[in-house]
Formats: sequence, structure tokens, C-alpha cells
Amino acid sequence: CGFSCSVLALCLDVFKRSFSLHRTHSLKDMENIFQLVRNVIPPLTGKRHKGQDGRIGIVGGCQEYTGAPYFAAITALKVVRNTKMNDSPNAVHEVEKWLPRLHSVVIGPGLGRDEVLLENTKGIIEKSKVKGIPIIIDADGLWLISQQPSLIQGYQRAILTPNYMEFSRLYEAMVSYPVDSSDHHGCVLRLSQAMGNLTIVQKGERDLISDGEKVLVCSHEGSSRRCGGQGDLLSGSLGVLAHWAFLAGAEKTNGQNPFLVAAFGACSLTRQSNHQAFQKFGRSMTASDMVSEVGTAFSKLFET
Ligand SMILES: *[C@@H]1O[C@H](CO)[C@@H](O)[C@H](O)[C@H]1NC(C)=O
Repeated sequence: CGFSCSVLALCLDVFKRSFSLHRTHSLKDMENIFQLVRNVIPPLTGKRHKGQDGRIGIVGGCQEYTGAPYFAAITALKVVRNTKMNDSPNAVHEVEKWLPRLHSVVIGPGLGRDEVLLENTKGIIEKSKVKGIPIIIDADGLWLISQQPSLIQGYQRAILTPNYMEFSRLYEAMVSYPVDSSDHHGCVLRLSQAMGNLTIVQKGERDLISDGEKVLVCSHEGSSRRCGGQGDLLSGSLGVLAHWAFLAGAEKTNGQNPFLVAAFGACSLTRQSNHQAFQKFGRSMTASDMVSEVGTAFSKLFET
């Protein structure tokens, strides 16, 4: 389907936000980052046609896990290519047919660890790198990376979205000593540098985002409850925002790394969706409830 993510939009003054930036950065900088996210969102016009605002590939899903790629894809809202990869040895060849049309790929939601699947996934990563498109890696995609960091190391158009466990595994693989729990900022920064300054988003109570130079903190108000599938919303929306930010370039982001801006936007959007769904459903909130809130959350945050 085509996509007009611009349906998604923000009335900054309406709700309370609490963000902080590492070290010297102030709340004013935070405000500025929101503005940068807005700057990269393509305007909604009647003239645009299907697929023009982005075609995002989701590489994930295996027999056991079909929900995760669905959540990532539906969140990428205008997912134009949602490929649930199969485990045929031909998959890479199949993928090569549509890969040239994609603007970004999200790798990992519900991927599983089947050997053939992971081999195919490696092939897709290689091909995407050659094409120079943004690659978002989550879940078992990150497991693959922890086994073989060189697959993505130094590719600065990659964004990794580890939770705390996945982060620790990657960190130990790359930095070769354990995570220092008294210095989360420093650890995220070091992991990014060890990976060659690609963007790392450590998901947690607060999301920490680093490109090896800066560390942003997104502590936009969500809720105390995180639900299964929330990470898929993040990776899916990041697929879209990374493409937009990359396309807009550093000019629109005031010289800031577009991927940092995209990551900050996706983290805020996911948290806002969580917040809104929690208001309605409380503890019974599910990822589907969050998906239903993505449109209004986007409006609230980014459309002024
Ligand atoms: C990563 O960023 C840091 C801080 O800006 C810089 O010192 C370092 O040279 C960069 N490394 C690479 C591989 O770009």
C-alpha cells in the first residue's frame, strides 16, 4: 500500500515532556531535536503517489513468529514491501528483485535463529549495504550481529535497537569487558564507537541513543508498562523515519546526524503511543492497542 505517514502529526504544548540530553545539552536542545524531526517529515500533498514517501522492507517472521513483523510493518504504516522471508535457499535471489526499490530495511522482528534464515539475512544485509540504504537491526538480527559484528561494523547507515540483554551481549562481544551499570551513557557511546560509529538505540526505561559522538536520552513519558511487540513498533517506525531523515540530509537536521534525529523521533513516537494506549487500556494494553494510537501520537508530536 502507499503511504502518507503525514497522517501521523503535534501540539507540543498539550502534553508534558521530559527529556534530557547528555552532559552539556539542555532542554532547549531537546526542543530543537523535535523541530529537526518535524523538518525531515515530508509534507502531505495530494500530488504524491503511492510509494513516494517510502518503501520499507521488513525482513523477519518465521513459522513461530508472525506477529512481530506484522507489528513492525503496520507501524511503518505505509509499508510497501512487507516480506516475510521464507527459508528457501533462493530467498536472497528473490529479495534482490525487490531490494532495488526499497528505501530502507528493518531486519530482525520475529526472525528466529534458523541457520538458513540467518544465512539469507546476511545476504540481505550485504546487498543493502552495497545499495547504501538505511538498515535497522533488532531482535534476532542483533543476535546475528553479536556472532558476526563485521557484517555491519563501520556501516554508518545502520541503526541497532538492542534491549538491555541484547546490548550486553553486543557490548561484551565488541568491548570485551562487561557493561558498567553505573555508566550507561558511556557504554552506549563506547559500543557505537566500537562498531564504527553506527547508531545505537538502547531501549529501556529511558532510551539512550548514540552515534559515537553524542548521546541523546529519550525519556518522553510512556507508561510503566511495556508490552510485547513494543520493540517492533520502534523498529518499524524507525524504518520510515531513518529513510526520511537520510533523504532530508544534514541540511534539514541543522548539521546533526540524521540517524540520531530519526532515532529520537521513533523513540518518542513509540513512547507516546504507549502512553496513550495505557491511558485507555491500563494493564490490559497490547501492542495492537499501541498501533491504534500511532496516528494520533504522531500528530501530537510532530505535526504543528
Ligand atoms: C567516531 O566518532 C568519534 C567521535 O566523534 C571519533 O573520534 C572517531 O574517529 C570516529 N570513528 C570513526 C570510525 O568514524
